[in-house]
Amino acid sequence: MDIQEQIAGIREACLRELDKVSALQDLEQLRVTVLGKKGSLTGLLRSMGQVAPELRPKVGQWINQTREALESRLEERAAALKAQALEKRLQDEAIDVTEPRPLPRVGVQHPNSSVLDQVIDCFVGLGFEVVEGPQIELDHFNFELLNIPKNHPARDAQDTFYIDDNTVLRTHTSPVQARVMTTRKPPIRIVCPGRVFRADEVDATHSPVFHQIEGLVIDEHITMADLRGTLDAFAKRLYGKDIATRFRPSFFPFTEPSAEVDLTCFNCRGKGCRVCKGTGWIEVLGSGMVNPKVLEMCGIDPSKYSGFAFGIGLERITMLRYGIPDMRLMYEGDERFLRQFR
Ligand code: DAH
Repeated sequence: MDIQEQIAGIREACLRELDKVSALQDLEQLRVTVLGKKGSLTGLLRSMGQVAPELRPKVGQWINQTREALESRLEERAAALKAQALEKRLQDEAIDVTEPRPLPRVGVQHPNSSVLDQVIDCFVGLGFEVVEGPQIELDHFNFELLNIPKNHPARDAQDTFYIDDNTVLRTHTSPVQARVMTTRKPPIRIVCPGRVFRADEVDATHSPVFHQIEGLVIDEHITMADLRGTLDAFAKRLYGKDIATRFRPSFFPFTEPSAEVDLTCFNCRGKGCRVCKGTGWIEVLGSGMVNPKVLEMCGIDPSKYSGFAFGIGLERITMLRYGIPDMRLMYEGDERFLRQFR
């Protein structure tokens, strides 16, 4: 067999193999056996000694042309195999975006939070500003400046956790009133929502941790009529136009006169039912005209300024608004309860 036939034989064999190869590693293996250092075509170069000297340049040229031709065929085949592999991977990893998936669990706003939002909306609409104060409060603001001196009997109903003799977990949001009055000049028009604490046993209407919304207005010529108008607007906004307010005389050390405020029962609209124990009214807040003594202690001139204040129990109005029968439901985090507010 002359050398030309050998070259042609290697070439044909290589091309035949090439068509059969289906994996990139096998292709590389084929390249090595033909074109590698110890490959069959390379081996022919080494046997050049047996070729007649005048033929050597010609034979060298054939071998090189064949090598180039095979190299480019091998590269083409490699590119085709790579493209196939990519296509297969794209198909294998394709995601069916139309496939139904389990819905994510989305939480809902706690009823207390949504009622608080509504209350704040209402007062902001009336020109009030929202102010917050600390939950760990000085006795000075929680009691003293509100005209509840040490040993005053009003402290009995507001027993709380004492951090030391002068520091308490605040028992109401009223200290925020004192903080604002001692640092600002009238006119003042604020609402102060927040968490409060008392040494109360847990039952259907009591919790040692609950929430209040304090209100305070101080300006010249503020009268009880302003208090009534404000709370009336609040009640109608929150529960409906047919809801009225009723003021009953009461006592708080920091207001004079003081009033307990009832709203028309949301449930029977005043006719009398189980919720309002047949009276047609439901008690929702404490209020009054700021005691001149408190104004004075806070550095506001009572001969020039007057004001009103109120304190709303948030849980109370949330329970009334949604007909929630037991306060504990609001703190237990039971999803069966919370889901209902979606
Ligand atoms: N701080 C009172 C309490 O927690 C509620 C209250 C009553 C607040 C009358 C007031 C008010 O601002 O004027 O029982």
